[in-house]
Parts: sequence; structure tokens; C-alpha cells
Amino acid sequence: MLVPDIIIAVDGYSSTGKSSFAKLLAKEFSFLYLDSGALYRGVTLFAQENGLIAADNAIDLPGLEKALESLDLHFENVDGKSMLFTGGRNIEKEIRTMKVSSQVSPIAAVGFVRAFVDEKLRGFGRDKRVVMDGRDIGTTVFPDAEIKLFMTASVEVRSQRRFDELQAKGENPDMAEVMKNLQERDYIDSHREVSPLVQAPDAFVLDNSSMTFAEELAWVRGVIQGKFGILE
Ligand code: DC
Repeated sequence: MLVPDIIIAVDGYSSTGKSSFAKLLAKEFSFLYLDSGALYRGVTLFAQENGLIAADNAIDLPGLEKALESLDLHFENVDGKSMLFTGGRNIEKEIRTMKVSSQVSPIAAVGFVRAFVDEKLRGFGRDKRVVMDGRDIGTTVFPDAEIKLFMTASVEVRSQRRFDELQAKGENPDMAEVMKNLQERDYIDSHREVSPLVQAPDAFVLDNSSMTFAEELAWVRGVIQGKFGILE
């Protein structure tokens, strides 16, 4: 399907399958896929490794703000997959662990961290033809994105997806802990002061609790065609 040069913003709750779906869309339309959450995870890993998060979870804000001035985070294509790097180090695997997941939401609630990430994201989207997933892409990062999708699914379905994902990566997750972490992240992401997770008024809502990828794709084609007319 030939689509115009647009930005597709995919926002929504954790583990709704945003990234898998955004990757699928990017492949389908030959767009670039960009995972904004990876950058928040990268900042979190960096903060953990540099002792900027204390045992009581307090963040050394002045230390972090200073350190961000020289933090390099960028995506590189490795075997056809977009992976997050800092300098020459591939950190894609480390940013997906429970350790990072459990501390990323407070880090993502810090105003200067969001400004750091937003600037990078806007640079990545300058030439359009990107599918970017996150929490505030359609509201804050690209409020003029031509297509905005808002994804949701039941907490049970989302917890099972996250559990399976962690298991597939060789972790040994506890279902109750996974669900608790998801609910905590939903709460912090939706209630923070800066750019909270909210549905943009012009977003199309996709509840994929019981949808296959093929059904999701058919749905989004309908959305795009509704907006731009019949495309090739
Ligand atoms: O999508 P994810 O689970 O990898 O995101 C990790 C965290 O980053 C999530 O708890 C919320 C935060 N995030 C955000 O605040 N804004 C974004 N655009 C993307 C992610």
C-alpha cells in the first residue's frame, strides 16, 4: 500500500503490543520504525550504572541532568533490526530487563529527561515516513502527526504478553509481579505532570485484546484510507 509522507504516532498503555504493531506498520509501508520508550529505558540503564538511583529509588537529579549533556543514545540497524546503542555498545538487551522496567517510569516523569528524549525524537522524525511508538507521540512529540493511533487492551492480556516476552528472553518472571509492575507504570505514566499518557482527541482507538495482527493491519488500512482516500 502506497501511503503519503506522513508520521504515524502509536501511543498507548504498556504491553499493548504497540512496538510489534508499529514495526509491522513500518514494514508494510516501508517507513522507519522508532521506539521512543527505548530512549527512556536507555537513560534509566545509564542512571543505574552510574549510581544515580539510590537504594531507596531516589534519583540524583542534578547528577543526571549534568550526565545527560554527554550521553550518546542512538539507534543502529543490526541484521535488519533497530537496536539502541550508547557509543559502540549495543544495549538493546539490557534495557528490556525487569530491573530497568521497574525504574523507568519515574525517570520518564522527569522534565529534563523528557526534553532530552523529545529533541532526539523530533530529529529522527524530521523527514517523515516514520512510525513512532510511545506514550506522548501524538500529544507532545508530534502533535501534528497525520495518523494517531491509541492502543489499549485488558490488563490480563497485557500481563500475559509481557510474561511471555520475559520468559522468551530467558528471565524467570513472576506473574503477580509482572501485573503489579504494569499497573504501577500505567498509573505513573498517566498521572505524571509532564506529558502524561492521554489519548489525543484526534486519535483512533485500537483495543486489541482479542485481535490478530492481520485484523489490526486491516483496521489501520481502513483508518488510513478513510483519511487519505483509496491508496494503491
Ligand atoms: O514502551 P516502553 O514500555 O518501552 O516504555 C518504557 C517507559 O518509558 C514507560 O514506562 C513509559 C515511558 N515512556 C514515556 O513516558 N513516553 C514515551 N513516549 C515512551 C515511553
